[in-house]
Amino acid sequence: MPSEKRQYSPVTPDIAAKAAKIVGEKFVIFGDTEKLEPYSHDEIPETRYAHTPECVVRPRTAEEISGIMKLANAERIPVTPRGAGSGLSGGAVPICGGIVLLFDRMNRILQIDRRNMVAVVEPGVVTNEINVAVKEYGLFYAGYPMSLETCYIGGNVAENAGGGKAVKYGVTERYVTGLELVTPTGQIVQMGGKLVKDVTGYNLIGLMLGSEGTLGIFTKITLKLIPSPKASADLLCLFQTPQQAIAAVPLIQTTSGIIPTAIEFMDAAAVKASAEYLNESIPYERAGAMLLITIDGPDTEQVEQQYEAIGELSQQAGAFEVYVADNYTTSERIWRVRRNIGEALATITDYQSSEDLVVPPASIPKLVEGMGKIAAKYDVAIPCYGHAGDGNMHTRVVMNPDWAVDKWDQTLPRILTDLYKLTAALGGTISGEHGIGHKRKPYLGLVLSAEAIEMMRSVKRALDPNNILNPGKIFDV
Ligand code: LAC
Ligand code: ZN
Repeated sequence: MPSEKRQYSPVTPDIAAKAAKIVGEKFVIFGDTEKLEPYSHDEIPETRYAHTPECVVRPRTAEEISGIMKLANAERIPVTPRGAGSGLSGGAVPICGGIVLLFDRMNRILQIDRRNMVAVVEPGVVTNEINVAVKEYGLFYAGYPMSLETCYIGGNVAENAGGGKAVKYGVTERYVTGLELVTPTGQIVQMGGKLVKDVTGYNLIGLMLGSEGTLGIFTKITLKLIPSPKASADLLCLFQTPQQAIAAVPLIQTTSGIIPTAIEFMDAAAVKASAEYLNESIPYERAGAMLLITIDGPDTEQVEQQYEAIGELSQQAGAFEVYVADNYTTSERIWRVRRNIGEALATITDYQSSEDLVVPPASIPKLVEGMGKIAAKYDVAIPCYGHAGDGNMHTRVVMNPDWAVDKWDQTLPRILTDLYKLTAALGGTISGEHGIGHKRKPYLGLVLSAEAIEMMRSVKRALDPNNILNPGKIFDV
């Protein structure tokens, strides 16, 4: 818990009653620990990162949120916005207590504007529902992350979430053209619109993207859509060793002349965990690592040509087997295994650390090699998987089952420091898509200069003078 907690007041029954006056009594949870507990954590398994809120508030409108923020500033109560709670850096955890804001009642798709190819949505829409809704218009929202079936679009914007199609389509930030938001002090502000281009003043939307719920609370989001690709296929390429598989990634990217939609890497340990968790058959026993490569395009013929070219390159790079999945059912079976790796690894033990390293794409083989060395040095499992085509590798550093928890607590910071120094030395950083939150806050100085952090602090102080909105995240004010 940050030292900042001291500056806040507790949520009293009187303050909870004032919140209830704003949003309606039914939509406030107060004084019931059991009902508050589900909002104490995100998807990080380690309980040390959890903190139960004093009060949960479920607003319906920007005006109600504005009222809550004005109340919170007057009473010095911290407020933490929470999407679906599928985050992995603690962004939605109210580490100073206070109020958690939920968006489950702000879940409408307000407009699908086909001629401008945009959708205007509320923050509590489950991201996948946007694609379900725009499908009949031949449109597609390409910025979604791997947790698309559960996460909220508001959380995606707050974390600038990435995902499985970023090699070709980029991440959330490429698609947000407009925002309505409530500031930390309770003003309602409009930014951008349905514009493809906009250089009017500072890029405030860019500032809000990935601000981890510390600078503004989104109430309307305008998203750019693209025409839905007409055809797609996946290649599952099996390699004897992780080194062979990962070395194929820069080769494919720089010599194929093709931009694949996705190039995902999974080592044998990661695939095994997920296949067993899902009871799915996928030949992990035969491979040291796999690449999952997606191609999409305007017609089947082009897609076929492209996957054949990439399949051949993979074989030249050492793939001993290349499976093609060119129908939805088979593709979905493979992707489900990929999407569930994190969740599967999370079931092994509570003592693990979910990581999100990112390096310039050409350095991805060196990153994987270095991760292997760190695993051997500390005698822990560091299964490796992720968005290799983006230079973005995930892992769950898993406690050695022979260790006592004390040893884990002492060793984990050293393992993380080694991993983060490795990524920094390769020109990378400590999070590509999950964010800093309070999980990585102690390590920010390894990858950002004191001057850069101070600039961020100045922005935070200017917009949130009482440090009310999601305090204790990213850096201490
Ligand atoms: C994934 C999430 C953890 O890529 O970002 O599986
Ligand atoms: Zn990811």
